[in-house]
Amino acid sequence: MTNASTGEMTPATSGVLLVLAHPALERSRANRTLAKTAKGLSGVTFKDLYETYPDFVIDIEAEQAALTAHNVVALQFPLYWYSTPALMKEWLDLVWLHGFAYGEGGEALKGKKLFVACTTGASAKAYHAHGYNRFSMDEFLRPLEQTAHLCGMEWETPFVVHGAAVKDDAALKAEAERYRARVASLLPTKTEA
Ligand SMILES: Cc1cc2nc3c(=O)[nH]c(=O)nc-3n(C[C@H](O)[C@H](O)[C@H](O)COP(=O)(O)O)c2cc1C
Repeated sequence: MTNASTGEMTPATSGVLLVLAHPALERSRANRTLAKTAKGLSGVTFKDLYETYPDFVIDIEAEQAALTAHNVVALQFPLYWYSTPALMKEWLDLVWLHGFAYGEGGEALKGKKLFVACTTGASAKAYHAHGYNRFSMDEFLRPLEQTAHLCGMEWETPFVVHGAAVKDDAALKAEAERYRARVASLLPTKTEA
């Protein structure tokens, strides 16, 4: 894990921990474009879960240390079966433990922000009571929203790119700029840092 601004291997003590989960990033258009744009921001520590843990053997201590060291946790992923890709779920299951993230003595994430950035194949119209996915994105993201609540985190309005597969390069680039601005807005100002 490297800090984009300093190139140092030690974790930052503030800023955004941007955690990406995409099982085939080489074939991704949307998430690759978004991540490439946001990870260069000063104050963002970028972690690609599938690159770091291709065998799903997660270094729990290192992950907990990274979470502790940042003010904002950003989760970026393509929506797979209305949920996160498997490794991000595994990461949540193994790292966000009782006594660390929640429960007695579990206050490591308290007061931090949780920000979700998600891409979907289906259009925005589909994510509606009368659309073919029948529920809104807010509803599909409820498990993460409640996870934030349980851990005493502040839930940030999610960033969603719908119809990602059919967006042309210019449209994706525009989304990436919107994403970059949103991630930048989550970084502490100089006086807070
Ligand atoms: C296994 C799998 C499950 C998917 N499930 C959904 C889904 O539930 N809803 C949806 O809108 N798109 C779904 N998609 C489409 C992806 O979300 C879409 O291809 C992705 O967001 C595009 O981003 P990328 O270019 O970074 O891969 C799924 C794709 C795969 C491969």
